[in-house]
Amino acid sequence: MRALKNETFFLIFWLLLLGLPTLAQAQADQKELVTRGQYIFAVAGGCACHTEPKGTHNAGARAFPIPLGTVYSTNLTSDKDTGLGGWTDQQIIDGIIKGLRKDGSRVLPVMPYGAYSGMAQDDLRALVAYLRSLKPVKKVTPDLKSPPLARSLGTAAWLQAFGTFYTSPATAPKGGIERGKYLTDHVAICGDCHTPRNSIGVPNKSLYMAGAGKNIGPLGQAIPNITPDKETGIGDWKRDDIAELLLKGTKPDFDNVQGLMEEVIQGAPHGYKDMRKEDALAIADYLKSIPAIKNKIQ
Ligand code: HEC
Repeated sequence: MRALKNETFFLIFWLLLLGLPTLAQAQADQKELVTRGQYIFAVAGGCACHTEPKGTHNAGARAFPIPLGTVYSTNLTSDKDTGLGGWTDQQIIDGIIKGLRKDGSRVLPVMPYGAYSGMAQDDLRALVAYLRSLKPVKKVTPDLKSPPLARSLGTAAWLQAFGTFYTSPATAPKGGIERGKYLTDHVAICGDCHTPRNSIGVPNKSLYMAGAGKNIGPLGQAIPNITPDKETGIGDWKRDDIAELLLKGTKPDFDNVQGLMEEVIQGAPHGYKDMRKEDALAIADYLKSIPAIKNKIQ
């Protein structure tokens, strides 16, 4: 009897000894994943649309005008009722890259899921781990204000006609212009603001990164041309100037950027400012490689 007890004791002892390091390892892995996710969140401008100016970070409810009304960004915190707390990892990923809600309905394409659909699987998993780590904040997202049916029918038809989706690679390019393009198009989504749209929100691909006047720019803001055109774009900025703007918000003439650009740089609270210098330079190099387009923004 006593021998058996001793055996059981040793068995438990060994199991603990073997199990603890794996548990510790799993916790360390999870922490590393969340840290990587925080970085992706930062390069995504802190998903700034989901924070009201001066409001609680990531709790949503920010109003965006759309052709037929107003739509509100959603609560990204881990609150069970009003945030993402009740969503599975895969549901959150489908929300980011397909615009699908937990109930299978589609989010309006104001949320740039087409662009995010090219985000690497690795980066998406990390981003989701980070979102899950956000302190829950209870805040209900106001209902969409638009005529009934506009949402479901309109969204389906819009996506059918104009939606562009990409294949998500397993891992992101590690460096060089390839990485710059990846970050620009699928994580930082510079074109979501810097490429102009028509009156029903379709991006004009022939004016890629060529800016938008106040009359059509998001939230009525004028968006500069960031193609390498010397006269109307940023052709005479050095790569370091572009990186400096992303990391500090200062232009070569020492002026500070304002409005939406300042928001994505500052983030919520992580934003472009927290990007690694080499990533900011990769974006700069990519921007210098795209076609120069003459488009004067008033
Ligand atoms: C949420 C919208 C938004 C996103 C996303 C965005 N920008 Fe901007 N950007 C703006 C606005 C608005 C301005 C003008 C700010 C001002 O006038 O002070 C601006 C200004 C700039 C300028 C200054 C140009 C000039 O001539 O003064 C550069 C360079 C720039 N953005 C690059 C980028 C890059 C690179 C990215 C992606 C990494 C990016 N932006 C993402 C909205 C955005």
